[in-house]
Amino acid sequence: MSKIRIALIGAGVIGNRHLAAMADVSDVALVGIADPFPAARAVSDSHGVPLFSDAATLLDETNPDGVIVATPTEHHFQPTMQSLESGAHVLVEKPIMATMEESESVITKSRDTGRHVLVGHHRRYYGLVDQAREIVQSGRIGQLIAVSGQWNMRKHADYYDPDWRKKWQAGPVLTNLIHEMDLLRYVAGDVVSISAQTSNAVMGFEKEDAAALVIQFRNGALGAFVLSDQSHSPWGWEQATGENAAFPRSAQNAIRFMGTEGSLEFPNLKVWTSRGTSEWRNPLAAQDLSGPLEDAFSNQIVHFAKVIRGDEQPRISARDAADTLRATLAVYEAAKSGRRVTL
Ligand SMILES: NC(=O)c1ccc[n+]([C@@H]2O[C@H](COP(=O)([O-])OP(=O)(O)OC[C@H]3O[C@@H](n4cnc5c(N)ncnc54)[C@H](O)[C@@H]3O)[C@@H](O)[C@H]2O)c1
Repeated sequence: MSKIRIALIGAGVIGNRHLAAMADVSDVALVGIADPFPAARAVSDSHGVPLFSDAATLLDETNPDGVIVATPTEHHFQPTMQSLESGAHVLVEKPIMATMEESESVITKSRDTGRHVLVGHHRRYYGLVDQAREIVQSGRIGQLIAVSGQWNMRKHADYYDPDWRKKWQAGPVLTNLIHEMDLLRYVAGDVVSISAQTSNAVMGFEKEDAAALVIQFRNGALGAFVLSDQSHSPWGWEQATGENAAFPRSAQNAIRFMGTEGSLEFPNLKVWTSRGTSEWRNPLAAQDLSGPLEDAFSNQIVHFAKVIRGDEQPRISARDAADTLRATLAVYEAAKSGRRVTL
């Protein structure tokens, strides 16, 4: 079987993470990189592939089966559309696009070209996320009543050196909460409304420093979520899981799912239940279901190759990711208007 030929557009932080993941997957081969900035030369040289300054030339010259789009969020649209038009399938980083209009155009283009769009919500490739979904959706903790979560990390100061990272598209809502929103939708179900407030009191950039939101799920459960990229705490997905060696593991839980019969701590997967009647006079005990963490990025490349071969449908389709984007963008609208936004 010949290898799936993959091109990368955008060789920055996450582009390089995809390249590392590809190295672990035997049936894919990198055929070229597009990135206009000089630093990408070292990346293309180290992988022995040609570097192009723009996506159109890369697509013309290499004719890839699949393209990974890992450009800054506000530059997802053009390379994704060009890749689909060239006949390639696309794995685009999260969020699918910066706006719903762009997302709808991509969904239409995907349908018209018959090429798949897979969106890089990589957390869905961890077994623990599927375990949490099963625990919540099987009724093991009863009827889901409430979700309480947070993502609180202080990013290093030079993270904000590039001007694009000062803009709203690079703020923690669209960059980080989008992961949480996708996860909450996957585990707890669809979101029907959002109320929120945001603040930029620390850095004073266009992007927000913090957000607090109330989420209403279709199943009737309510969620409260707080996030900030300026608060130094052990409570957030990356520190909880240690998925990225750059962010030392705290092993603290970051999200709690509470039901009528018990509760789930996540992502450290502790299920709290009582013997006998589930009510406050009975002691609760925790069952620890945690296990080793897989390499979600390699799993994602394996899945992308199967999607390209026609063996699997995208696990996170453009429509699904657009729904996650809609719920995330509602945070800005709710914060700006001071009103609850119904989706
Ligand atoms: N899945 C995850 O966990 C995860 C983590 C980080 C970032 N991301 C997402 O990945 C995207 C990129 O983030 P990053 O942190 O890697 O950014 P980055 O700045 O490190 O890298 C972006 C790269 O894209 C290049 N670029 C810019 N415009 C381009 C264009 N028009 N064509 C080709 N290349 C272009 C830049 O030169 C740079 O090398 C964002 O959408 C972000 O939300 C996802």
